[in-house]
Formats: sequence, C-alpha cells, structure tokens
Amino acid sequence: MARMSLDDKIGQMALAQPAEDLADAIRQGSIGGVLNLVDREATNELQRIAREESPHGIPLLLGRDVIHGFHTILPIPLGQAASWNPDLVRAGSRVAAEEASAAGINWTFAPMIDIARDPRWGRIAESPGEDVFLACALTRAMVEGLQGESLSAPGSIAACAKHFAGYGASESGRDYATTHIPDNELHNVYLPPFKAAVDAGVASLMTSFSDLDGIPATAHAGLLRDVLREQWSFKGIVVSDWESIPQLSIHGLTADDRESAIAAANAGVDLEMASDTYARHLAEAVRSGEVSMAVIDDAVARLLKLKFELGLFEDPYGPAIEDAQASRERALQIAHEAALQSMVLLQNNNDLLPLDTNGIDKLAVIGPLADQPYEQMGTWIFDGDPERSVSALDGLRALLGPDSEIVHLPVLETSRSREFVDLEAALEAARTADATLLFLGEESILSGEAHSRADIDLPGAQVELVQRLRAIGKPLVAVILAGRPLTLSNIVDEVDAILYAWHPGCMGGPAIADLLFGVESPSGKLPVTVPRAVGQIPLYYNARNTGKPPLPHTVVDIDDIPVRAPQTSLGMSAFHLDVAHTPLFAFGHGLSYTRFEYSNLEINTPQVAPGGSVQISVDLHNSGQRSAVEVAQLYVRDPVASITRPARELKGFKRVRVEPGQTVRVQFQLHTDDLKFWMRQHGWLLEPGRFQVWVGGNSEADLAGEFELIAGPNG
Ligand code: BGC
Repeated sequence: MARMSLDDKIGQMALAQPAEDLADAIRQGSIGGVLNLVDREATNELQRIAREESPHGIPLLLGRDVIHGFHTILPIPLGQAASWNPDLVRAGSRVAAEEASAAGINWTFAPMIDIARDPRWGRIAESPGEDVFLACALTRAMVEGLQGESLSAPGSIAACAKHFAGYGASESGRDYATTHIPDNELHNVYLPPFKAAVDAGVASLMTSFSDLDGIPATAHAGLLRDVLREQWSFKGIVVSDWESIPQLSIHGLTADDRESAIAAANAGVDLEMASDTYARHLAEAVRSGEVSMAVIDDAVARLLKLKFELGLFEDPYGPAIEDAQASRERALQIAHEAALQSMVLLQNNNDLLPLDTNGIDKLAVIGPLADQPYEQMGTWIFDGDPERSVSALDGLRALLGPDSEIVHLPVLETSRSREFVDLEAALEAARTADATLLFLGEESILSGEAHSRADIDLPGAQVELVQRLRAIGKPLVAVILAGRPLTLSNIVDEVDAILYAWHPGCMGGPAIADLLFGVESPSGKLPVTVPRAVGQIPLYYNARNTGKPPLPHTVVDIDDIPVRAPQTSLGMSAFHLDVAHTPLFAFGHGLSYTRFEYSNLEINTPQVAPGGSVQISVDLHNSGQRSAVEVAQLYVRDPVASITRPARELKGFKRVRVEPGQTVRVQFQLHTDDLKFWMRQHGWLLEPGRFQVWVGGNSEADLAGEFELIAGPNG
C-alpha cells in the first residue's frame, strides 16, 4: 500500500461490469474487480493483465451471483430452507462454489439472508424465510459451503452476506420500497443472520438498496460502522449493491454523485458495484478533506487482504477443477437430494399419496408446469444449464417405465394463460385415468428481484382448471411449483393432496416422481407461513401476543354477522372479519407418509443459571407404516420480559429418521444465550424468569413444559 498512489487505491474500490475499455482500465490500475463475466478465457486474460501489466500487479476479484447453484441448479433458497437440513445446504453450496470456481469466479454475491415475512416480495424466493433461528443455521451452512476450510482451498470462493440490512421488510413486499423496522426488531430479527455470517467468517457483506428509518443502507454509518465494524469486529469487505451509491441522491439523501460517493465511503462502503462515483469523485474528496485518507486506506487494506486470502497473488487463475462427469454426477445427486428434502406435503386427504406404481396403468398429467425444465429452475439462474434440468413429466416417465400410459395435457400454455387448450381432452383423460396429477404454480419470471406480486393466488385460469377437474369427482393431486408461498384458499378444498415443490431446480422432476410414488416420504417443513389471504400479510408465527390475541375458536363469517350487531358481540380481538385468524398452513408444517407422535417431554433441570444449558427431550414415535424423516422443532416463549417477546420462537430443530413402530428419544440443548433479546438503549439482555417450551412437528406444537432462568451472580 505504501507504493500505491491515491488513484491506485481508489482503483481497488471499483467493481466494474464488462465493458469495451475494461482491459485498458485494468491495465491502468483503475479497477479492483469485475462482476458478471463468466468466460474462463476472458477472465484469465483479465487476471493476466492485472498481474503483469497493471501498476502494482494486483489481481482482480471476479464476482457473480451464484444464488442456488451454478451450472447445476438446486432448489431456490426458500426451498432449500424447507429442508431444515444445514448439512445438505452446505453440500449444495459447496457444489455451487466448485462449479463457479472452475469457471474462473472467485467471489459470489450469496448467501442472501434477508428475513422475509411477506410472500408478495419477489425476493422471498432467495431468502431463508421468516425465522431467525433457521436463517442463522442456514447462513452458517452456506458460508461454510462456499468458502470451505479456507478461501484459498481448491473450489472455495468468497461469500457475500446480503443485503445489509432490512431489505426483506420492504413495505407491502414491493421490491426496493422503504422499510419500517423498529430498533428492537432490527436487532432481534433482521440482524442476527448477518451476525451469524460474520461469526462464520464471511468474507464480505453487501449493503441493501432499502432505506432504514430515513437513511439508505448504503450510507448508513450506524449499521456499517457502529454495528458491523465496532460491535461485531467484522474484518471483511463491504460492497454496495448495483448502483446503490448514485441512488443515494434518488433517495433524496444527497444532492449529486459527488455527495453520494462521500456519504457511502464515510459510512464504510469499501467497493462500489457497477457505478463509478468513487472513480470520479473520491480523490478530490480526499484532497478537500471530506473523506479522510484513513477511510481509503482501511478499505484498500481490507480489499487487498481478501485477495491475499483467496490466494490470488500466488495464482490468480484459480484451481483447474474440471467440470468432469464425476463431479457433475455428484452435483446432480446433491441437487436431487436437495429437491427431495425441500418439498413440503401440505395436505394428503385420506392418505391419497403415495401412489402405487403397480396401481397405475394410466396417469393424467395436467397443468402448465409439468414439463417446464427451464421454469422449474426458478429465479437467479444466470449460469444454470437447462440441459441438466429434468421436468416432472420426464421424472414420472422414467419412474413408471414404458408400461404405464401417461397422458400429458398442459391445458394452459403458461401459468398466466387464461385460454384453455384441449380442456375437454384433459377432462376425459382425468375421467379415465387411475390418478390425475396437476402441475400448477408460477413461472420463474413471476418471482425474484423486482418481481413482486400484489395478488398471490394461482395466476391465470389455473383455479378454474382445478374446478373443472374437480367436477369430475375423482381424486386430485396438486403439485405446486412456485417462488413463494401462494395463497391456496381457493383450491385447498378442491384437491385432495398438495405437494409444495417451490422451484425445485434441475432435479425437481425426479424428486417429484420419487415423492408422489413413495420412493421416499416427504420431509420438508414450511420455512414461512402460508396465509389464507393477502390481506392477512404480514402473517408470521413469531409475532408478539398483543393484548387481545384471538381465542382459538375465534371464527367469524362475514355473511353471518347480524345486521346492526352490537360492536362487541363478535369478540374483541386481533382478527379480520372476513378470514380466519389462523394461517392456511403454519410455519414448520409438513406432512409425511407416516404418523409421528410426540410424548414424554422432559426438561433435565427445573432451573438454569446464565451461561448454562437445559436439555429438553421428547419421545418421537412413528406409529405409521413407513420409514420417514421428521423435523422435530423446539419453540420457546419468554412470557414476561422488559419488552414483549414473540408468542413463540424456534430455538432448535432436529431431522430424525424413525422406522415404523420405532420410538426415538430426541434431545435439544438450549443454551441461555439463546434466551437473550435486544432492548433499545440496553443492548442484549438475559432476564431471569419462567420460560415456556413446546416440542412438535410444527409451530403449533402443543406438547409443553417449562423451566426457570435464575439470576446469575451479578443479578
Ligand atoms: C441485486 C444483488 C445482486 C446484484 C448483482 C442487484 O440488483 O440486488 O442481490 O447481487 O444485483 O447482480
């Protein structure tokens, strides 16, 4: 750094997109990294120029969004979250990192760890869902998978936790919109996944596009300096989001690009993505004293340190890992396993599923998403290889073999179509088939960045298609492929079984076939609440109780309300008059092909002191006929605290395989650190008192116990 001029240093703070003059700019040392260039020959040439022809021979960061797989596309992150399986998520991230690194990428803009409580938001697809504890566990797994044992190990790439912070709280789920996050909520809900990423050694963080209480995140010194650098001692780099520095003046925080550059640099943004306000204004701002040299030096030191840690000074070209057949097969196998474990069986009336391969001579496969290998990969699939993607139709054909007749009729060309094609033929097929499978949902373009929806019912004429098939009177199975939880109220009583497949990635088809035919039992659990109606949003399980929570039997039908009913006659509590107060499907819900029973909850000690742990154990019995995996979940409530706490919060989970007739003792260790909460002006508090616990298969679990946290030696 002592040998670098101010301009050389500011050059390191530029992350550029491919452009005609890129090579020259690198040669001059005015670029520190490039994003979105995926061409091994081209990136190698740029690295060569950087090493051999730029003033100080500093190699480049080469960044890319590797959100859920690179060539081999895994389920969307929200789907992976439904697996509740950090080991599998880690393995998936590793495969993605290996494929990306083989293509010359050394840095990815993942994991996206924004808590999302609004299914209208298109980016909920990329998120770990609504829960803090699950998000933290998955964050650690993703960072570990991407970065491996060390950043310089073959196949490792630097991770980037994004978007810091609060992006998921955009008003009404409109992407980029303002957020309203009280300070306690920010620290208790939105920040913990980022703290988990920092503790896991994440190399970088990306600022959010959003505005937090009047300060856009890209200029938020309170977040970037006080929280991230001082409280958390983060040593990695902070990158802006795409042009989020010049956007500071669009927000109305700054007058022009010069002020934006100064605001972002002083807030602690080390690297500018896509735009060039740093290149144009920082040197002059340093000379005028508006940005100190220390700000620049700190940023550049961190950027250079990351390049050293990645081993780029030794070998900027990265390890030559071949995308060989063996690694491709391993990747596909992990994608298959991830798809299997991500799917959630929401409903299975009369145990309609699994179907029996022997009982199927003729299968009707209907709906717009049965044979859409591209659509099933979901959002953010820049480098995804559609050739690797196997549709549900092909998965079913492969599983059933040539002896079963499969009649496939999409009826709707896309998920949004309103015109039926061959409807009569589809109805006839359903009438004469041994089973009818309906593939419904959303195409990939309906979710993702800037793809929010105000109405999250099944689009187009899909609901009518369900009704027409329902009228035939034969059992119906719906498989839903979507980037978000959809409101399913208008089909839930029209179909017998619902398998929620999310956008399951390239091996979605074989996984769907395996689950429908019972090769494996579903084990996914919802990482997000499924509302009955858009008007209920935000609806999330870990809400606070309020002073007037609805009673369990609070049900009002707006049609039955007597004219001029007295104002208090319907019950005075927190519910809507025109929809039940409960979700359609609760957080943590997910059925399997067997029955699980929970009993004998035991807490090893009635009292625990700060710094200690309680052990909570239950019997988990498989009383059904099949071997299956259950995700046992531990919920806690702090019923009396200095600030009101959620009615329930997830504090532990275990994936357990249980054989038919077997009982497994499941144990959770609950550390008192997990009972802390943030209170404005006080910081993290651990308050003595009684804690309630529940264990079960979803967030409505009723097997309960309690323990007491006693005061520590210091009160
Ligand atoms: C997104 C980021 C992404 C970046 C680069 C932005 O629009 O918000 O999540 O990493 O683009 O593609």
